[in-house]
Amino acid sequence: MRAGSSRGSALLETLDRQTEAFRADVLAGLAAPIPAIPARWLYDRRGSELFEAITRLPSYYPTATETALLHHIMPDIAARIPKGAAVVEFGAGSATKTPILIEAVAPALYVPIDISGDYLEQSAIELQRRFPSLEVIPVTADFARPLTLPASIEHLPKLGFFPGSTIGNFVPWSATDLLRRFRALLGPCSQLLIGMDRVKPVDRLMGAYDEVEGVTAEFNLNLLRRMNRELGGEIPIDAFRHEARWNDILSRIEMHLVATRDVEFSVSGQRFRFAAGSTIHTENSHKYGPRGSRVLLLAGGWTPVAEWTDPDQDFAEILCVAEPERFAP
Ligand code: AVI
Repeated sequence: MRAGSSRGSALLETLDRQTEAFRADVLAGLAAPIPAIPARWLYDRRGSELFEAITRLPSYYPTATETALLHHIMPDIAARIPKGAAVVEFGAGSATKTPILIEAVAPALYVPIDISGDYLEQSAIELQRRFPSLEVIPVTADFARPLTLPASIEHLPKLGFFPGSTIGNFVPWSATDLLRRFRALLGPCSQLLIGMDRVKPVDRLMGAYDEVEGVTAEFNLNLLRRMNRELGGEIPIDAFRHEARWNDILSRIEMHLVATRDVEFSVSGQRFRFAAGSTIHTENSHKYGPRGSRVLLLAGGWTPVAEWTDPDQDFAEILCVAEPERFAP
């Protein structure tokens, strides 16, 4: 009973801290000269459900393409992973691709890391049920911030798993920081299996990020609804619409919320005014060519050793190694 209530108050504290961080990002982001809110706030419970729904849409090719690719290449990958490894998954969420890897690699231990404790616990339970001899140690944390891995994996060979092209949601300089963080966390000689979405014709990209079903629009607009729910906002949702744009020079899809008329509203008691046509930038999804992806990985401290793509070259899976530091020739 006691333990339960102290766990309850720890959870409330985490929620309070989360809401305060959300408030700070929203108030600063809406007041900025180019208004923007960090994409991680898209993922409250509703946002995570909407994202799951997006991954099931026929036009959102990355999930189905990567899943099929992983099935196809897994024997080849498994042959390159030492026996008894620890798999550390960054941003595990509902961990739908994980069983494909676990089945082939047969690791001794699996450490899923995710900021959403709810989702994490659920998927850890399901995975444990499916692989009873696998030790699963979930870690609730933001993988983009400092964190500690369980001590029991210290002496095991380590494989980081970062599927879904989530790396594309970071601008290149912070993607490099993140990759370096993974390297420091996993240590020299560890491996990383990473999924990266490829550059492709704009109409296919637009079809994935502005689909006819309108789920991505709802995912984007949910950010405004979340501000109303959690920050006492009074934003008229119908004064904004979802827009996906291809930014060719920066090789990325951008999501924006565009004001459809002049609008004024308050959030947490602070007033904001948006003129018709002005936007709030809510997400970047960078797309990489084969060379661009390898340069990014190298800059982040990871040497690509093998790469696989689907027949249409829509999506790439890259296996990298954290080479021990040595003098460059
Ligand atoms: C999570 N991430 C890799 C997705 C992407 O494609 O950038 C998020 C997403 N945004 C809109 N649709 C999907």
